[in-house]
Amino acid sequence: MNITMIGGGAWGTTLAQVLSDNGHQVLIREINEEFVTSINEKHIHPSFGYEIPHQIRATSDLKEAVSFSQVLILCVPTKVTRMVLKEINSLLTDVKLFVNVSKGIEPETSFCVSQIVEEVIDSKWLGGYVILSGPSHAEELILRKLTSLVAASKEKEQAVFVQKLFSNEQYLRVYTSSDVIGVETGGSIKNAIAIISGIAYGMGLGENARAFLISRGIREIIKIVDVLGGQKETAYGLSGIGDLIVTASSKNSRNFQCGLKIGQGASTEEALSSISQTVEGIKTIYAAYEIGKKYHIDLPLINIAYQVVTGTCTAKEGLSQLLSRSLKDEDIL
Ligand SMILES: NC(=O)c1ccc[n+]([C@@H]2O[C@H](COP(=O)([O-])OP(=O)(O)OC[C@H]3O[C@@H](n4cnc5c(N)ncnc54)[C@H](O)[C@@H]3O)[C@@H](O)[C@H]2O)c1
Repeated sequence: MNITMIGGGAWGTTLAQVLSDNGHQVLIREINEEFVTSINEKHIHPSFGYEIPHQIRATSDLKEAVSFSQVLILCVPTKVTRMVLKEINSLLTDVKLFVNVSKGIEPETSFCVSQIVEEVIDSKWLGGYVILSGPSHAEELILRKLTSLVAASKEKEQAVFVQKLFSNEQYLRVYTSSDVIGVETGGSIKNAIAIISGIAYGMGLGENARAFLISRGIREIIKIVDVLGGQKETAYGLSGIGDLIVTASSKNSRNFQCGLKIGQGASTEEALSSISQTVEGIKTIYAAYEIGKKYHIDLPLINIAYQVVTGTCTAKEGLSQLLSRSLKDEDIL
């Protein structure tokens, strides 16, 4: 089957390899011409330098990419998703299934990508939407190391379609879910918690602190999933706790690295500019902060992280704020 990847960075090209391994023809649409050349002429993953299957092709021509297949996999940073979808919408002439693999919430609207797709794509061309998320470093999956994901859609058969598309008996197991908002929200907010965990590590705090922040972080993820209309239980699965574990405790994670630099005293801008690839977590902290305000929910970690990343207080002051909060029960749900 022909499949189009919209975005050929670290994750898009890695998933293209999975699809190619599974026997599909993959065309990647990438705006960076150097990446296009790397894929087409050198057959080298543009972010990691590994050889990739020679059948994978790339183009900078969006029209060619959109007309190549009925399945469009969105692998661009969330901050450009709306713009890219508008460009795609203007080119549509037939029905497409949209599969999103990016992890973020639009700060201005608090929308998950499913909601942006619904708003931007003409309903007569929108053949469905699936979010594919879970605990996954591209750095490992590109080496075909065992990975699990979850494909969520309101339509069971579309979730199963994506499950089968990506599952590989050698190294990738995909589960299904019907909780689109729960999966999208968990996968997004965990990047904010990973930044917080990185800040703590950068401040010289230890593993006790990291476990504390991850555990209380999942509590904040649950609250946000709930107010946005997802199912709380989803936060306990692959897209919630699973992804939080892999992101908030790994030096492979760019979000963790970004937080680490802030914890060591860098400004948010300095930390972001030191990392060449997409870091979704900072904008996600803004989005989560706005959600907390809008729905009147108490998100102490997010609120303090917001002050730290916007420069209103230092990481050390943020920590004092956290510790001076009134003592309470460990309310888990
Ligand atoms: N890297 C991972 O391990 C991983 C794993 C799971 C999910 N994700 C998610 O996937 C998304 C992409 O992450 P990534 O790691 O591939 O980032 P990346 O920065 O490596 O790649 C993003 C790609 O999008 C392209 N792009 C940027 N602006 C564009 C535009 N306006 N139009 C078209 N293309 C544009 C860039 O050229 C780049 O190649 C993020 O939301 C991330 O959270 C990443």
